[in-house]
Amino acid sequence: MEIKLLSGALGAEITGIDLKDTSDQNIKEINNLLLEHKVIFFRDQKINAEQHIALAEKFGPLETHAYVKGLSKHPEIVRIIKAEDEKNQWGENWHSDVSYNEKPTKAVILKSIKIPPVGGDTCFANMELAWETLDEDIKEKIKDKKAIHSSLGAEFFIEKYKKMEGNEKRNFDEYSNEHPIVRTHPETGKKILFVNWTYTKKIIGLEQEESDEILKKIFEHQARLELTCRFSWTENTVCIWDNRSVIHFAIADFYPGRGLGYERVMDRIAIEGDHPQ
Ligand code: SIN
Repeated sequence: MEIKLLSGALGAEITGIDLKDTSDQNIKEINNLLLEHKVIFFRDQKINAEQHIALAEKFGPLETHAYVKGLSKHPEIVRIIKAEDEKNQWGENWHSDVSYNEKPTKAVILKSIKIPPVGGDTCFANMELAWETLDEDIKEKIKDKKAIHSSLGAEFFIEKYKKMEGNEKRNFDEYSNEHPIVRTHPETGKKILFVNWTYTKKIIGLEQEESDEILKKIFEHQARLELTCRFSWTENTVCIWDNRSVIHFAIADFYPGRGLGYERVMDRIAIEGDHPQ
């Protein structure tokens, strides 16, 4: 096995591991890599939908997305498509997946199906490091507080999915939950900064103005480049991220207005998380 670090902050590209091997030993090794690097990538993994699902199931029960339908043959898989004529794409701002849920996603296993010839990278940021390096005065103010997370933060995305066939009867109302701003990782025991620009709306117990001011500083801090890594996809790459300890940003830098009207397609399976504590 070879491990190539993507940056000094987080992320690793792994070679020499076959994701079709779902033996306990292989899964333990992958999980250890995930806990250490927080987001891991495996290129040239020609796994089919069944193998993708089998791999994901080894990490825990699979999650059903609140308002996005899975593939008809494989409902566990959500196909994320940015069409050639679209400008925006799923995940195009800093977020951690479904942080507005009572139990936000534990981890995501994303497989690239179609990748544009240029653009469409994804960035990740290390929220353990973000907590460690946060300004001490801010830490003191927020360390025992909770924040409200709301699904309405992803407005563009909701509008797109409302219009999709099969989604007519889905409930697109707001999903909202409160979570500790600093959570403890259930496997490593490390402290993690658990807020994000897309979904976190207010610090409970503060006036909106003060909350906005502090959240703005935190959002700027957690996106500092020295906390991030950036990955350029090739087709048939599998990425696993620990959604508890990273935020991520899918860069929508390829679209018709720039002469880069390409399709990008990803298959996503999410694993159920726990109540952040
Ligand atoms: C996501 O934000 O969940 C998807 C990331 C990507 O498509 O790169």
